[in-house]
Amino acid sequence: MAKRTSNKAKKTRSRSSRKTSRSKSPPFDKLKAGFLAKDARNGAPSSKTRPPLAGKQFLSDKVGHFTESVIREMTRQAMLYGAVNLAQGFPDFPAPAEIKQAAQQAVGADVNQYAITWGATSLRNAIARQMGVWQGITVDPEKEVTVCCGSTEAMISTLLAVCNAGDEVVIFEPFYENYGPDSVLSGAKPKFVKLRPPATDGGEWTFDEKELRRAFDKHTKAIIVNTPNNPTGKVFTRAELELIRDLCVEFDVLAITDEIYEHILYEGTEHISMVTLDGMRERTVTINGMSKTYSVTGWRVGWAVAPEKITNAIRKVHDFLTVGAPAPLQEAGAAALSLPAEYYAKLAEGYRVRRDRLMPALSAAGFKCFRPRGAYYVMTDISAFGYKDDVSFAKYLVQEIGVATVPGSSFYRDPRDGARQVRFAFCKKPETLDAAAGKLAALRR
Ligand SMILES: Cc1ncc(COP(=O)(O)O)c(C=O)c1O
Repeated sequence: MAKRTSNKAKKTRSRSSRKTSRSKSPPFDKLKAGFLAKDARNGAPSSKTRPPLAGKQFLSDKVGHFTESVIREMTRQAMLYGAVNLAQGFPDFPAPAEIKQAAQQAVGADVNQYAITWGATSLRNAIARQMGVWQGITVDPEKEVTVCCGSTEAMISTLLAVCNAGDEVVIFEPFYENYGPDSVLSGAKPKFVKLRPPATDGGEWTFDEKELRRAFDKHTKAIIVNTPNNPTGKVFTRAELELIRDLCVEFDVLAITDEIYEHILYEGTEHISMVTLDGMRERTVTINGMSKTYSVTGWRVGWAVAPEKITNAIRKVHDFLTVGAPAPLQEAGAAALSLPAEYYAKLAEGYRVRRDRLMPALSAAGFKCFRPRGAYYVMTDISAFGYKDDVSFAKYLVQEIGVATVPGSSFYRDPRDGARQVRFAFCKKPETLDAAAGKLAALRR
């Protein structure tokens, strides 16, 4: 087990050879743990932190409430140090040939101008059709689907469309880091409910029913449910979703579900869409997108499916935020959603193989792994390495060992809760995973 920076590790990897010569000081100090800017954790930036200018404060108070994305910063760190990037969740292998051809054909056919603001007809029809095939529910593509610039925009457009100042949004933590800033930008206050790591090997992440109930009150506008979950790999069970459903109905709350890992499931785990539960059709916004299912995170095509009245509000926000998602890539989206069922089976199996390639290497290096049931991340416990916290360990990994990860604290409101965790993404080529495994083996020495 490695202690801090061993002399041997120092000898085997010279700092200057890893860092590009053009780089100045490493920007690691940008990695403030946790999504809230330190000054803002307990409210708006304090007057003490504002310069005593006679003039105006040029920045919005809102931006003082969160830091830049740690996940995306780790990708920049990986590039700076030439490290293997197991931080950000984007595949480093090609997208399916069929959908690339569909995109090329659309550009060739001069699909170059704005699509209909809320989405090209072909893509909305395909989304509605597949909601029928996959979830067994009937969706009206004319009235209930909004195509956005990624599920990221679908989430913020939804929150902006439904939240007023003073509303509260319940979020399970650890959480995909966008949800915190999304809530703040929409004027809502995030309320966090803990997902607790499995107590035994192969166990599940769980939440406390009473803690969840306590998070709901008359101010609760919505709950965000991400299943399969990033970063934990948890797939919410029917019983858990029914419990959430009961609270949503009792407190008259919306469920906003992020289902972008819907097709990435292991060991026969079942994905259940909240919208299919009794009583939820009228109070669920289902968010999904092309990024993860079709390995095209840079195309920026996602969508929100919601009842007509909510869809109208989402469409208004979306229109003024972005006008629309890339038109030719929406046509490719319609082709992607027409791929046969075998495509999805192969996708999940490919990720199972990758997970089972990386996890033994992580365990052998000294990480305690929480086995994911879905999505393409492994959350790990780093206690065995004896580091002060996750950020200093992640810094050591990227700079000295040559592997970029995401510090656990970026998935929690209070950085202390993630101080013993880092997340690895395994949506990578076998050779990338092997290169990372080879570097991580140095931790054992
Ligand atoms: C849970 C979750 N939602 C949304 C996104 C972003 O999706 P998109 O590329 O569709 O904006 C990610 C990306 O990692 C994610 O993990």
